[in-house]
Amino acid sequence: MRKLVVRGVAAGAIALLALTGCSSRNSNDSGSDSGSGSGDAAKGGFAADSLIGVSLPTKTSENWVLAGDLFTNGLKEAGFKSDVQYATGGVSEQQSQISAMVTKGAKVIVIGAIDAAQLATQVEAAKQAGATVIAYDRLLKNTNAVDYYVAYDNFKVGQLQGEALLKGMKAKKPTGPYTIELFAGSPDDNNSGVFFNGAMDVLKPEIDKGNVVVGSGQTDVKQVSTQSWKAENAQQRMDSLMTSTYSSGAKTLDGVLSPNDTLARAIITSVKGAGKPVPVVTGQDSEVESVKSIMAGEQYSTINKDTRNLVKQTIQMVKDLQAGKKAEVNDEKSYNNGVKVVPSYLLPPVIVTKENAAQSYANDPKLAPLTK
Ligand code: BGC
Repeated sequence: MRKLVVRGVAAGAIALLALTGCSSRNSNDSGSDSGSGSGDAAKGGFAADSLIGVSLPTKTSENWVLAGDLFTNGLKEAGFKSDVQYATGGVSEQQSQISAMVTKGAKVIVIGAIDAAQLATQVEAAKQAGATVIAYDRLLKNTNAVDYYVAYDNFKVGQLQGEALLKGMKAKKPTGPYTIELFAGSPDDNNSGVFFNGAMDVLKPEIDKGNVVVGSGQTDVKQVSTQSWKAENAQQRMDSLMTSTYSSGAKTLDGVLSPNDTLARAIITSVKGAGKPVPVVTGQDSEVESVKSIMAGEQYSTINKDTRNLVKQTIQMVKDLQAGKKAEVNDEKSYNNGVKVVPSYLLPPVIVTKENAAQSYANDPKLAPLTK
């Protein structure tokens, strides 16, 4: 893949990429490929009933709620003791939860970070204490102390969202130009930049050709990001856009790039509230309400990143480490955290529209009935 040297904080990188359209899985890619080894992650194993810490962020989408239960049950089933915590109170709560896991002697600490750049001190202490650190779903930035990354390929998620947006608009209106708006996730979550860069990898060439126009002209991350992944923040921004750009009827909104389902539904609520037709809106996470919306013909797409498989893969890594092996990885080049390329196990995300929903959720007892 193309590499772009971008220095600075994630937010700046998103802004720059929005302008250049260059692709990067790393929202502050240092351009360096050094340090791809997994260090001393495998240290001859540890006791089979050891404590495993799992530090999860705020419950900003259904996948996080599900992950907590799956980790608690899955680790127990595998014979480990577990300490599964949500940092509902924010970054400082997550920092103290991780420190407590280190103090309690956790052998592996699995972390879904609220803020990718604010946990270096805690994960470095974890390493010092001999624990292995696994970044879960969200990469940990600017630290050597992260041993592994396990996630769905989030850059691919963004690309799939960009492709779905174009396809959905074309299906409704065979020729362009198409008018769209862009939304990104929370600036502190490293994934937000990765999703956005992936989507822009697909959309930017179309914007450059004039086939796609961002109606409001808002492509800067400060304008398009959604603080804390909160639905009300996306809804407020969409409300303002409806007033500032679409109220006169001179422009018709054809599509909205939404990074996840929670925000997609907020965006749709706003457009409907303004009395305008629902545009093609993308999403992610396969949330129950969004799958219903897709089946009802409102939200256009979501992404299937089955949490069951991600947790299962993570627990497999823990088992390998317990047995004194290195955890299995399948990618040692894509996810640079600013100081090292983190050895990763990446699962493939799947785009879901009304067309393939039944097939995609066939083995999901919660979602399959919704597609009948
Ligand atoms: C996850 C998404 C989720 C978002 C908000 C991201 O880091 O990858 O699946 O929608 O956080 O919770």
